[in-house]
Amino acid sequence: MKVYFFKHTAEARRARRIAFTKNPPRPPRLRGALVALTIVLNAACGDTTLLDPMERQPKFKAFAANSQYEDGRAMRQPPPGTVPRETITMRPEITLGTDRKGALVSAIPIPVTRALIDTGRARFEIFCAPCHGLVGDGVSPVATQMSLRPPPNLNKQPRVPGNVFQVISLGYGLMPSYAPQLTAEERWAVVAYVEALRRSQTATLAEAPPDIQKKLREETP
Ligand code: HEC
Repeated sequence: MKVYFFKHTAEARRARRIAFTKNPPRPPRLRGALVALTIVLNAACGDTTLLDPMERQPKFKAFAANSQYEDGRAMRQPPPGTVPRETITMRPEITLGTDRKGALVSAIPIPVTRALIDTGRARFEIFCAPCHGLVGDGVSPVATQMSLRPPPNLNKQPRVPGNVFQVISLGYGLMPSYAPQLTAEERWAVVAYVEALRRSQTATLAEAPPDIQKKLREETP
């Protein structure tokens, strides 16, 4: 905006009138809108303290001093024996399902015991069966209601264990992550059970132990 210095002459008054018609003062409503816009922009740029009074409460930030403690530090040591929520194993094959180069592991990296498979079955039947079916074949009441992409049959083709572990840990397409519900060990247990299910659904009679083979032959008319 141009600034004029006027003398009190008739000519100056005329010039002032013209300047006023060209740049009338903004109506107050517009000014209010501008103030609101500034506040919103401020909030959008990360300064949330304007709108969120909780952020303005007195508190000690990390690394700040705090005279209430003998060592003068606001950050406290965790009590002895504290276990981090994401236990660091330094073994990505267990926590991520990949080796150090990022390739999916082709075998379950923890000992596969009967107890592990039992845990896997219990977790599978709670967290996976509602969608993928009790035997993993994708037959479930939920599947009939999911029209966009029904939960697939998990027995169709063999999957690399690292892949199944990642699907459970990170989620996959429409399927959510189950990492909040299942520890890494429980996820491996589910991977083991998914593998057991697949074998149970595609096994031939010749693969069964001899006594079971005999029993099955007797049962089959
Ligand atoms: C809410 C229903 C739902 C639940 C519960 C669920 N899944 Fe899924 N799952 C899906 C859907 C849907 C897909 C396909 C996602 C897509 O393609 O977008 C899928 C995909 C998968 C795949 C990949 C299949 C492929 O084609 O590569 C695997 C493996 C799998 N699920 C295993 C599991 C396991 C193990 C659990 C239990 C921890 C589980 N799912 C729980 C719905 C579910």
